[in-house]
Amino acid sequence: MALPGFRDFYPADCAFRNAIFAKWRDVAHRYGFVEYDGPPLEPLDLFTKKSGQEIVTQLYNFTDKGEREVALRPEMTPTLARLVTARHKDFKKPLKWFSIPQVFRYERQQKGRLREHYQFNCDIIGEAGLEADIELIALVIDTLRAFGLTEKDFVVRLSDRQFWTDFMNERNVPEEERYAVIQAIDKSEREPREKTAEKLGRLATEVFAILDDAGSAKSERLDTVETGLRYRGLPDYVKRDFTVVRGLAYYTGVVFEVFDRSGEFRAIAGGGRYDNLLKNLGEVDLPALGFGMGDVVLGEILKGNGWSPHHGQSGVYVVIADEDYRAQAMKIVQELRLQIFDEAVDYSLQPSKVGKQFQTAEERVFEFAVVVDSQVTDGIVEVKVLATRQQTKVAIENVYSHLMEKRGERYRRG
Ligand code: HAM
Repeated sequence: MALPGFRDFYPADCAFRNAIFAKWRDVAHRYGFVEYDGPPLEPLDLFTKKSGQEIVTQLYNFTDKGEREVALRPEMTPTLARLVTARHKDFKKPLKWFSIPQVFRYERQQKGRLREHYQFNCDIIGEAGLEADIELIALVIDTLRAFGLTEKDFVVRLSDRQFWTDFMNERNVPEEERYAVIQAIDKSEREPREKTAEKLGRLATEVFAILDDAGSAKSERLDTVETGLRYRGLPDYVKRDFTVVRGLAYYTGVVFEVFDRSGEFRAIAGGGRYDNLLKNLGEVDLPALGFGMGDVVLGEILKGNGWSPHHGQSGVYVVIADEDYRAQAMKIVQELRLQIFDEAVDYSLQPSKVGKQFQTAEERVFEFAVVVDSQVTDGIVEVKVLATRQQTKVAIENVYSHLMEKRGERYRRG
């Protein structure tokens, strides 16, 4: 059995996961992002220094055989910062990079939270202007729209970490107490008021007044972002909410979290600006922002909506109707496998009744069957469109073009 919080991916689970990845890649490409990756194992101090205490308590870390302190990555952002810092001169700014790492957190297992997940990360590095924040939020919205979700299904809760930094500056909150205040606000929705009040101490009354009435707090940054999203036709997808501050330590400006409207699930995605992370990591001072979207909550929502990765029929099943001609059939199989892109060309490894072979082809939702029998000695096979049962004699060298023609007819019929 797999460890608690870890998943097995049987073929149907892999198909589902890969369909999610394919959409993620598609939308990222449409926004001009390019893909990168990094190692799943990193030096421990990359995370202890940068991510903040909460994630450090959730690390999978150990000492390796070379006495190095290492950890499985709990998130991608410190790795991205490390990559960019090391070779920033090689890339034109702004960088628009995405990745789909598997990340690991030793969390208490609960609905929507596991100990590993895949996380779609999109980040823009080297652009300080709010246009980048707007672009990134539009991207998170369009990613979810690509799965057929609408403003009725999810909302982006917008906030401003800088607003809270200013708030703490004005009240002379000492540097070492600030992350605790941010953490208390971050958890305030999921915890009883008294508990949050205790953590906030003298700030409690003022903080609650702001949380209860988002209109009472001013943020020109959020005004600009909201206007930008309105121009793009996306105002119904966002809502201002100052309880969102993000649990991670490095955020500095506009931050956001995406939730399902029903309130049934944990966050679908989260991100924001982290303008000081690269500077703190090395000598490179570049502004940055990004988000992460996990496959767990999203997958649960999509399953609830009946979203399915299957696109109907595809591929070719070669039916060997007469075992005497298996060799000729194999030649056709190999030929078609060179011609057909990203679809199965399959056949029965063992001799089997013709009816059985057709049954397999239909169960596995193939689009076409190519039947090989004695006519193959005259260079002829029968091509069958499985959905319509229409059958045609075709010269072997024309099989591929015939299949494409039939498919074209199907598309035109709709
Ligand atoms: P995060 O909010 O910690 O941000 O995680 C982002 C998303 O990953 C969450 O909204 C959720 O969908 C998913 N997620 C997190 N933990 C788990 C878990 N235990 N099980 C399943 N899904 C989970 C970050 O990690 C930031 N590094 C994102 C970022 C990128 N910020 C800037 N760039």
